[in-house]
Amino acid sequence: MESTASLLDAAAVGDLVLLDPLSEESLLRTLQERFSREDIYTYIGDVVISVNPYKPLPIYTPEKVEEYHNCNFFAVKPHIYAIADDAYCSLRDRDRDQCILITGESGAGKTEASKLVMSYVAAVSSKGEEVDKVKEQLLQSNPVLEAFGNAKTIRNDNSSRFGKYMDVEFDFKGDPLGGVINNYLLEKSRIVRHVKGERNFHIFYQLLAGGSAQLLQQLKLRPDCSHYSYLNHEKSVLPGMDDAANFRTMQDAMAIIGFTPAEVTALLEVTAVVLKLGNVELSSCFQASGMEACSIAEPRELQEISQLIGLDPGALEQALCTRTVKVRDESVLTALSVPQGYYGRDALAKNIYSRLFDWLVNRINTSIQVKPGKKRKVMGVLDIYGFEIFQDNGFEQFIINYCNEKLQQIFILMTLKEEQEEYVREGIPWTPVEFFDNSIICDLIENSKVGILAMLDEECLRPGTVNEDTFIAKLNQVFASHKRYESKETLNAKHVTDISLPLRCFRIHHYAGKVTYNVTGFIEKNNDLLFRDLSQAMWAARHTLLRSLFPEGDPQRPSLKLPPTTGTQFKASVATLMKNLYSKNPNYIRCIKPNDTKTAMLFTPELVLAQVRYLGLMENVRVRRVGYAFRQLYQPFLERYKMLSRRTWPRWAGSDREGTEALLEDLKLPPEELAYGHTKIFIRSPRTLFDLEKRRQQRVAELATLIQKLFRGWRCRMQYQLMRKSQILISAWFRGHAQRTRYKQMKRSALLLQAYARGWKARRIYRRYFRSDARTRLSNFIYRRMVQKFLVGLQKNLPPMAVLDRTWPPAPYKFLSDANQELKGIFYRWKCKKYREQLSPQQRAVLQAKLCASELFKDKKALYAQSLQQPFRGEYLGLTQNPKYQKLQAVAKDKLVMAEAVQKVNRANGKTVPRLLLLTTEHLVLADPKAAQPKMVLSLSDIRGASVSRFSDGLLALHLKETSTAGGKGDILLVSPHLIELVTRLHQTLMDVTAQALPLSIADQFSTRFPKGDVAVTVVESAKGGSAVPVCKKRGSHKMEVLVH
Ligand SMILES: Nc1ncnc2c1ncn2[C@@H]1O[C@H](COP(=O)(O)OP(=O)(O)OP(=O)(O)O)[C@@H](O)[C@H]1O
Ligand SMILES: [Mg+2]
Repeated sequence: MESTASLLDAAAVGDLVLLDPLSEESLLRTLQERFSREDIYTYIGDVVISVNPYKPLPIYTPEKVEEYHNCNFFAVKPHIYAIADDAYCSLRDRDRDQCILITGESGAGKTEASKLVMSYVAAVSSKGEEVDKVKEQLLQSNPVLEAFGNAKTIRNDNSSRFGKYMDVEFDFKGDPLGGVINNYLLEKSRIVRHVKGERNFHIFYQLLAGGSAQLLQQLKLRPDCSHYSYLNHEKSVLPGMDDAANFRTMQDAMAIIGFTPAEVTALLEVTAVVLKLGNVELSSCFQASGMEACSIAEPRELQEISQLIGLDPGALEQALCTRTVKVRDESVLTALSVPQGYYGRDALAKNIYSRLFDWLVNRINTSIQVKPGKKRKVMGVLDIYGFEIFQDNGFEQFIINYCNEKLQQIFILMTLKEEQEEYVREGIPWTPVEFFDNSIICDLIENSKVGILAMLDEECLRPGTVNEDTFIAKLNQVFASHKRYESKETLNAKHVTDISLPLRCFRIHHYAGKVTYNVTGFIEKNNDLLFRDLSQAMWAARHTLLRSLFPEGDPQRPSLKLPPTTGTQFKASVATLMKNLYSKNPNYIRCIKPNDTKTAMLFTPELVLAQVRYLGLMENVRVRRVGYAFRQLYQPFLERYKMLSRRTWPRWAGSDREGTEALLEDLKLPPEELAYGHTKIFIRSPRTLFDLEKRRQQRVAELATLIQKLFRGWRCRMQYQLMRKSQILISAWFRGHAQRTRYKQMKRSALLLQAYARGWKARRIYRRYFRSDARTRLSNFIYRRMVQKFLVGLQKNLPPMAVLDRTWPPAPYKFLSDANQELKGIFYRWKCKKYREQLSPQQRAVLQAKLCASELFKDKKALYAQSLQQPFRGEYLGLTQNPKYQKLQAVAKDKLVMAEAVQKVNRANGKTVPRLLLLTTEHLVLADPKAAQPKMVLSLSDIRGASVSRFSDGLLALHLKETSTAGGKGDILLVSPHLIELVTRLHQTLMDVTAQALPLSIADQFSTRFPKGDVAVTVVESAKGGSAVPVCKKRGSHKMEVLVH
């Protein structure tokens, strides 16, 4: 409410359209009054006028952003945020590309305004990691571009010395995706020259003040501005501007944008080169031919530059002091005079810097550009150098003012001329409002045949003597009677004397005032030529970035075509810009500078009045007052608001215009607020539109609720019906199931009852025919018959007598299974007894031996399993057949138990020797196989015990009693091929003879007593297959390792 009141406050209306009475005076007074209340923004309809306060105001806080977010333009106090919000919402919700045109003279606050718009859009668009990164990159492009493209001028401490048009691109939701920056003509002459009280580009001061000692050393710079000629040898510290801090901010911004450290270094190196070029001094000398030449006065700076850019100092010196001239087909090297040398040097510095700036913009674009393919909406923000009038205006001012002239033209065309033309076109009754159309000035400058720029190009390209005098003479001749052009000559022709207009100058009556341009330097700046030797030298440098800035220096690609002139390039880029702006919905911010001294809150009425006049604000207000704030084609209008009337909602059958009329009739809007054109509806005041929008929002909310309501109802109904159907189905199934179960139960019960009843009946009938114990007798009889049948069947069906056969017929009845099991056992035992009885004594002895072997070794030694299949033959040597063994036969006589060939392990070294082993009922004999002579005869009673391993080897340790005669030599280690049989037989024989069992140890480790002391024998099973005989290794005197497999 408060803000609406502020719009209507009679002393300081927020919208100048409401001014009463309307005069220049009242308009100025209102602006002043508002300014004194720190209300720096004022509207003319939807155009925002901003008066620079030159002091920070507390009106850009996050709370303010919130206040203006999604507000209605006319419902809140005038603010730049309101226009930003309006543009953003229109872009997001109505899908219309927008452009924000910020105009005003230098220092009026355009750059600040553009930053405010950008930051507002960033603040209100949605958040998220990706989106925030994009926003940050877009915002951070400002400090970088300002460092390289802004400078202090007399009018503005942070004056943009380049034009910038930034397209911010959004997705369909209104989230920023990225952007594109276009830059326009950097004022590069500032690199080599600036007037007293101004500064060169900020970056030089920032670098010298903020660069670390190490960085400056690397760049071969001194931290002292007064050392550098391009900085006018003066320290220039601006109040309120901290160059060192700004340098850090710029570096951080570069990192955020995505510059690599190497790119930053390269950029600063090239910047340093530009600064140092200014210190390259030339001195004059004379050649042998007597011609004047120039040379480097002091080689140090040149050498440092050469080192920085990776170029031979000689080559650089040659490029700076000489020039290659083509005479017919020959190239001749001519020396340059000192002024020519300085001209070349300065041209080089300017070219390096301006190309570096273009590179910088492109590099930023690479980071912020949007991937192709995505559909986007665009908001363009134009911040271009303001209109400039200096004491001495040159080519740059001419170009800058031309650009401003074009922007004014766009404003006039879109807000004044086009608007009025539209009323006529649409057949709306209209009294034309007079306004100044600046097309005549634009034409004066840009006409492709007789425009100033065209004639300047002609002079630049014309053969023969070309200088500014011929150029101005031509201008004077062509524009002798032009209303907006004057010079000393044209005035003289009209007999008017004007001492403020010197020779070699012309004056243009711009929309914003008269500006006198001095033509000196026009041709040179328009040509913008750089000696080919210099571009070739730069291309030859090893510095990649610098080299890339001079592609024309590549001698392989000689291009004889002259590049387009600066004026032509600028004209073309301005034309493209205009086309771009025309294609978008414009939003205007017109900045006003309240004083010339940058003083906070000082309002100089004369200065403001001049701006009010040339900005055409009065005409703007007049057209707005008599005109209509809003217009739209009938079709989209009806589409947007049709829900406000029952007649048009949801569908209108007639024409769009009739529909619109019916709709507005139902809404009962005052008739003077509306006008019906041929194709469009016109609404006079923004308030009516605001009201319409509000009603629409309410209605949309109602409709949304209605749709929700219907949908919810439908969904609930559908769900209920589904549930009901399911419930019926389930209960049907359940009832069916219950009935079936019940029926089965009943049937079962009925059958049971029937059976009992029938049984009872039958028993009652038959009872008289039977005695009382008939049941027991019968059952006993049946039982006996069954047992009998079972036994007889079994007798006929007995399994075979083989002991290994364990088969047995199953019991025919369950009650016989225990008896059947018992019979099976009895039968088996009987079968075994029969088997045993028919065995011979020898077979019996063998089986006994096998049984004994099983008791001794089963599950204890791996070799046992292999021995199962082998019959225990006892005699393996063939003593009786072989006459060689006669002696041994004699030893054994009738007492032989076992004879076989064994290996005896040598106790000293572990090697094995073959032996014949004879086991008799009394002795164990070891004999030499060759001589068949007994070598050792042991009484069985001398054997103390035996040890074997767990593995499948045949190693046997026989432990002898110490007291025995043989025992003196210690225990014996044997390797037997029939170990299981040997030990078993030894055990049995010992049992027979001494009635004592053989103490047998089965382990991997056992102790043996050898003549030289006790030896621990360790048996190790190796995975690898080796010889069948275990390998014994003596490990020291008390250890022996036996490897078996
Ligand atoms: N809204 C504002 N609030 C406070 N100070 C402002 C505001 N707008 C501008 N200024 C002050 O005015 C100075 C000049 O503004 P700015 O650089 O935006 O001018 P400009 O129109 O871009 O000029 P040029 O055409 O020379 O680039 C700023 O440095 C700032 O100090
Ligand atoms: Mg600016």
